Amino acid sequence: MLSGRVAVVTGAASGIGRASAEALARAGASVVVADIDEVGSRSVVDSIEADGGSAIAFRTDVTEHEECAALMKRAVDAFGALHILHANAGIALPFRGDGFAPDIDPEAWDRVIKVNLSGVFYCAHYAIPAMIASGGGSIINTASSMATLPLGGLDGYAASKGGVAMLTKSMAAGCGPLGIRVNAIGPGYVDTPMNEMIFGNADLAAAFASGHADGNLQTSEEIGDLVVFLASDASRSLNGALITCDRGWTSFKRPV
Ligand SMILES: NC(=O)c1ccc[n+]([C@@H]2O[C@H](COP(=O)([O-])OP(=O)(O)OC[C@H]3O[C@@H](n4cnc5c(N)ncnc54)[C@H](OP(=O)(O)O)[C@@H]3O)[C@@H](O)[C@H]2O)c1
Repeated sequence: MLSGRVAVVTGAASGIGRASAEALARAGASVVVADIDEVGSRSVVDSIEADGGSAIAFRTDVTEHEECAALMKRAVDAFGALHILHANAGIALPFRGDGFAPDIDPEAWDRVIKVNLSGVFYCAHYAIPAMIASGGGSIINTASSMATLPLGGLDGYAASKGGVAMLTKSMAAGCGPLGIRVNAIGPGYVDTPMNEMIFGNADLAAAFASGHADGNLQTSEEIGDLVVFLASDASRSLNGALITCDRGWTSFKRPV
């Protein structure tokens, strides 16, 4: 489905990014695994290669725009083109500075916005010219269900993800004529290291599972499958969309 395509995935050493990198590689893309976690990135490359796929790791901090520029250059140098960007790196800082506005540590606010929103912009800024030179492409930005339905008490995170959703829509308008589609995904609550606090607690995990329409928790793998769809021509009618892939979390009101 994606054979001959070249993909960059940020935050690819763990969780959703890892599943996305592995799914893109299984679909035939050559993948650049970008993360600040070099050991984790290496293990993703090993797993892709063991599965017969093609990948390299490239240490990237998405808050440093020069590193994002170097990342896109590395993809083109290694594989000759750039067609797919999954801008996925993100952080959540519950009880570590983010919270309800008057309680937020301003440094935590700056950090969350810098990783979750500026990082997405920096990557797109440098990926778009490389995609134009490659004949077009697909950008997938990881937002969150909180882009449309905040949980409350995590104001910085919610604002950053709302920003990702709107940046996606605005960039789609400019990118369309260039042969590049830009879409965002809005996962609900996925069992990844980011959510250790929820999923490490059986009662909390059950409560969050019951908020999904089918009562099941989400997996990173199902998000990876969606990324493959958005990267492929099968999703050619989608541009500027926020796909709420949250098992119904934002679609209905749960009983009180
Ligand atoms: N899990 C969910 O339920 C959920 C729901 C909606 C949206 N999301 C979003 O999905 C994305 C991935 O989340 P996840 O749950 O897969 O989290 P995760 O397992 O913590 O993975 C995130 C990865 O990004 C890396 N990272 C952090 N800061 C970075 C930076 N400045 N530059 C490059 N890489 C960086 C992390 O490295 P370290 O581990 O070393 O920090 C980690 O490897 C995030 O944007 C998150 O907001 C997650």
